[in-house]
Amino acid sequence: MTSPENAVSPPILIPFVEPLRTGGELEALREAVGRRRLSGDNLAARGAEAYLRGALGVAHALLTPSGTAALELAALLAELQPGDEVVMPSFTFSSTANAVVLRGATPVFVDVRADTLNIDADLIRPALTERTRAIMVVHYAGVPCDMDPIMALAKTHGLIVIEDAAQALHARYRGRPAGALGDMAAFSFHETKNIHCGEGGVFVCDQQTWGERAEIIREKGTNRAAFFRGEIDKYTWVDVGSSFLPSELNAAFLGAQLERSLEITRLRLDLWDEYQASLGGLQEAGVALTPQIPQDCAHNAHIYHLRLPSAERRTAVLQAMRREGVQGVSHYVPLHSAPAGRRYGRWVGEMTNTDRAGEGLLRLPLGSEMKTEAVAQVIDVVRRAVA
Ligand SMILES: Cc1ncc(COP(=O)(O)O)c(C=O)c1O
Repeated sequence: MTSPENAVSPPILIPFVEPLRTGGELEALREAVGRRRLSGDNLAARGAEAYLRGALGVAHALLTPSGTAALELAALLAELQPGDEVVMPSFTFSSTANAVVLRGATPVFVDVRADTLNIDADLIRPALTERTRAIMVVHYAGVPCDMDPIMALAKTHGLIVIEDAAQALHARYRGRPAGALGDMAAFSFHETKNIHCGEGGVFVCDQQTWGERAEIIREKGTNRAAFFRGEIDKYTWVDVGSSFLPSELNAAFLGAQLERSLEITRLRLDLWDEYQASLGGLQEAGVALTPQIPQDCAHNAHIYHLRLPSAERRTAVLQAMRREGVQGVSHYVPLHSAPAGRRYGRWVGEMTNTDRAGEGLLRLPLGSEMKTEAVAQVIDVVRRAVA
């Protein structure tokens, strides 16, 4: 008899994520090694930053070792202090809130919208106090938040808006790129993202003073970047800082992916559309919700998800998929109910949509290198498991 302990799981035939390879990475790495300048802020890094400035239409783009580091850089630039509050969705990754908590400030969580799972602009206003300094938005699944009302509210109350655009490279809102909609933004190039370098990120902003200060904070609080440009004759410690520079190797790998990133986004969108066309019926049948993309948004196919009516249903579907070698995953344990969220943050209002998504959301495998047969197999398994 097979006990649960010695039961052998079937092999994973279709993994949830396979980090992208474009084929150009090894050559880019070879060239970087040949140049023998492997610390941060070298040729490949500058190339990647120039690409990102152009693609996003922003004045400053500084590569960082992770999206998390880019968020921490943003929190430093926003000069968050102990006692300050930052309104953000509860339905996000820990890094969004950690950046605030590390400055001694308090994340104030609000619910997300039922359709996009992005922060509900109408719920921000009731969460504001005289201590609120900033709003952090998260473009979940690469679907941009409804930014115009959020920016209008921020302007009225003198608040900084930080976009957690970790998942949103090449997404657009009313024709404008995600990451260029608020005051500052952070993107992730973690291997689970559409475009990656294993671990990596970028901080972006338009404002000159923040751009200049970011360069210093990223270089351990020194004006070394200005020294290398020949603007000063020696460099020194001028500000607080950390080591927020990625190695040239990561930048070279990233550069090889960025140059094909629009094409990769299109490939992902085709697969996402295939899921939506084939699984849309589940929503009509009332057994699962499928993603909804507002008219104002052009998403980047970062995630295809289904929302099941309960945690039990999700576990059952995940297990049924897994038995046939298809790996799915859940997404997020809401921060307001996580141990650290309760310790460091507080929340305002009902969390109905956040809690429902945390219990029922299931992400399907998606990657630009996926074969159409694999997508068809996932669709077949999911249809049978959900019905
Ligand atoms: C919404 C969100 N914010 C922040 C991060 C952190 O990015 P990184 O893993 O590059 O530190 C992620 C990564 O998964 C994310 O999805």
